[in-house]
Amino acid sequence: MLSRRDYLKAMFAAGAATGMGWPLARASAQEPDVILRIVAKPDKAAIWTGDSTAVFRYVGEVLKGRRNALRPTSGYLGPTLDLLRGERVRIHFENRLDEASIIHWHGMIVPERADGHPRFAVAPGGSYTYEFTVVNPAGTYLYHPHPHGRTGFQVYHGLAGMLIVRDPAEAQMDLPQEPYELPLIIQDRRVGRGNQLIFKRMMMDDMTGVLGDEVLVNGQPDAAFKVQPRGYRLRILNASNARIYKLAWSDGRPLVVIGTDNGLLDAAQGPRSYPYLMLGPTERVEVLEDFGLRKPGVELALISQEFSDGGGMSSMMGGGGMMGGGGMMRGQGQEMPIARFTVARESAVRAAPVRLPPPQPLMEARFEVKTRIAFAHMRGTLNGRAFDMSAVADDERLPLNQPVAWTFENGNGMMDMPHPMHIHGVRFRVMQREGSTSSSVAAGLIKNCYKDSILVFPGERVTVQLTPTEPGLFMYHCHNLEHEDGGMMRNFLVA
Ligand code: C2O
Ligand code: CU
Ligand code: CU
Repeated sequence: MLSRRDYLKAMFAAGAATGMGWPLARASAQEPDVILRIVAKPDKAAIWTGDSTAVFRYVGEVLKGRRNALRPTSGYLGPTLDLLRGERVRIHFENRLDEASIIHWHGMIVPERADGHPRFAVAPGGSYTYEFTVVNPAGTYLYHPHPHGRTGFQVYHGLAGMLIVRDPAEAQMDLPQEPYELPLIIQDRRVGRGNQLIFKRMMMDDMTGVLGDEVLVNGQPDAAFKVQPRGYRLRILNASNARIYKLAWSDGRPLVVIGTDNGLLDAAQGPRSYPYLMLGPTERVEVLEDFGLRKPGVELALISQEFSDGGGMSSMMGGGGMMGGGGMMRGQGQEMPIARFTVARESAVRAAPVRLPPPQPLMEARFEVKTRIAFAHMRGTLNGRAFDMSAVADDERLPLNQPVAWTFENGNGMMDMPHPMHIHGVRFRVMQREGSTSSSVAAGLIKNCYKDSILVFPGERVTVQLTPTEPGLFMYHCHNLEHEDGGMMRNFLVA
């Protein structure tokens, strides 16, 4: 008899087969369709004029299958993984750093052994092999290291990359396609003498997380893009350690959202316009931008507007940044430029209206989980607990294949601040946001969409719904990487 999991796999394989013209046998065979090697190593990168910068870098190679399963990126970032839904993937990871590491495929629903839990971290010189079938829907994902206590340091120094899942069904949606797709990987960095990256400077960094004073896009400062007067699909990823952006166009036009962390919106959810978009660490948003609506030759910018997150921390830091570490620092919520766009002087190509997929029915969740977020004595806790490599509390056990309503509740005290909460191994649907959301961020929060990470502001209670389909030990944590490394992370067990 088929287990439910085998049944689901067969269903996905069948779906892939109809969509891509693959024989069913191929998708269910044990041989992977794509085999990749990804190496993490120290390297040098030319980022700013002058001296090159010491970084960590992921380099990749396709050992078998589609050559375009890896795409080169600019700057220090890892190559973009470009995978197809239904594809079987094997990835050999080699750690050539001088510290332990492991890769996590953020947002991807993969078996426990392929999830990159910190207990699988490999020592310098070691390697790890991942096997999974791509079951996630078309969307924008990412990969990054996950060794306990060192994730922030390793990501900050360059270990991160985008992961795109494509689905042949996208062809019927009239979405802009290559070369009118633009990945925008946003990170903030602080650079010091000799163009070297400055990580933590003071105790405050453990509380706020490491904030840079300069934004890099796709690993490069002063990002500027020449675009055609037509529709683009912008895949925006916040790969910063701690910074939250309030994305807006400099000319005041709204942003049209077609997708979030874990897939495209459905036809009932979008496309939808927002005056600005809040994007916390690791969150993604896909924006449909019709540059044809602007004057040819015009220059505009994507910026991060000033905001107040409604927490005690940010008012303590003062709206205007503070002195420290030998210069002016940009605190959370300060305005920052992100990237400039120049629209080519050509006649506009009208963008076709996109056709998003039909809405999915939602089962009612009978199982409930509650997580109280607190920040005190310099560290965050989840239901009063800190990270432990193998511990699972009673309220951290989830039933396999059953809908679960998971509520995150943030405090409203002096030390409270927004926490970007993330759950491994699942995609969730945002159900409800209650409590006091700061009025300077509220209009930029997307409701009723599929995500795997969500900003929970001080005084808020956010409920998401998910159905775990992979048994085993996974994690949930704050994705402010300094909070995560400080222990604001826990296991949950699906059985
Ligand atoms: Cu993106 Cu546990 O992480
Ligand atoms: Cu993750
Ligand atoms: Cu946090």
